[in-house]
Amino acid sequence: MEKSKGKFVTFEGCDGCGKSTQLKLLSEYLTKNGVPHIFTREPGGGKISEAIREILLNGKNSEMTDECEALLYSASRMQHLADRVIPALSDGKLVICDRYVDSSLAYQAYARGLGEEFIENINQLALTKYAPDTTIFIDLTPSQAFARKQGADENDRLEQAGIAFHERVYDGYQRVAKKYPERVVVVNGNQTPTEIFEQVLRVLKERNCL
Ligand code: TYD
Repeated sequence: MEKSKGKFVTFEGCDGCGKSTQLKLLSEYLTKNGVPHIFTREPGGGKISEAIREILLNGKNSEMTDECEALLYSASRMQHLADRVIPALSDGKLVICDRYVDSSLAYQAYARGLGEEFIENINQLALTKYAPDTTIFIDLTPSQAFARKQGADENDRLEQAGIAFHERVYDGYQRVAKKYPERVVVVNGNQTPTEIFEQVLRVLKERNCL
């Protein structure tokens, strides 16, 4: 991301890793400390990308091909960048995004098996010109995550995928973290929310994102 503008920070992890709790704690912290920021999420964050999100996450769309899914995620990403991320960064704000291109690598390239090359090609801008300044990967295995999670929504198409799929997502994230070590910071998700949050804050401060 261009220097002298706001910082772009993304949060990643397997479903149920505790990402939402961390985002909530960060939101409270940033508001309390008067840090100009926005929170946004992928897929979604604007009219068009929210419409794409609905198609992607609707349990009734089970016949969707993996390639279609990957392309919809990258389409939504481009619209979301234009609608929300780039304007806020130009205003000098800190942009916190719940999931970004690494989700496509973990879920579509590795877990669905579409491969790195295809996913990197259709996400070229998100990996280069619009790469995050920092990505926090909350490292919690799917079995640890599922043990914590209660009352999963059975209509969520992705959550119907089962534990084996989520194990592949987790392995995918490990590969992402190895491939982009300058950008991706791994935070142990098997700690209390407060401990995780202290680490998140430390990382963001060290990396001049706060
Ligand atoms: P969401 O309900 O937002 O889950 P979470 O709270 O875990 O972020 O659903 C987002 C789902 O979309 C999640 O299962 C991951 C998936 N996803 C992909 O498969 N590829 C992507 O590129 C993105 C951004 C998300």
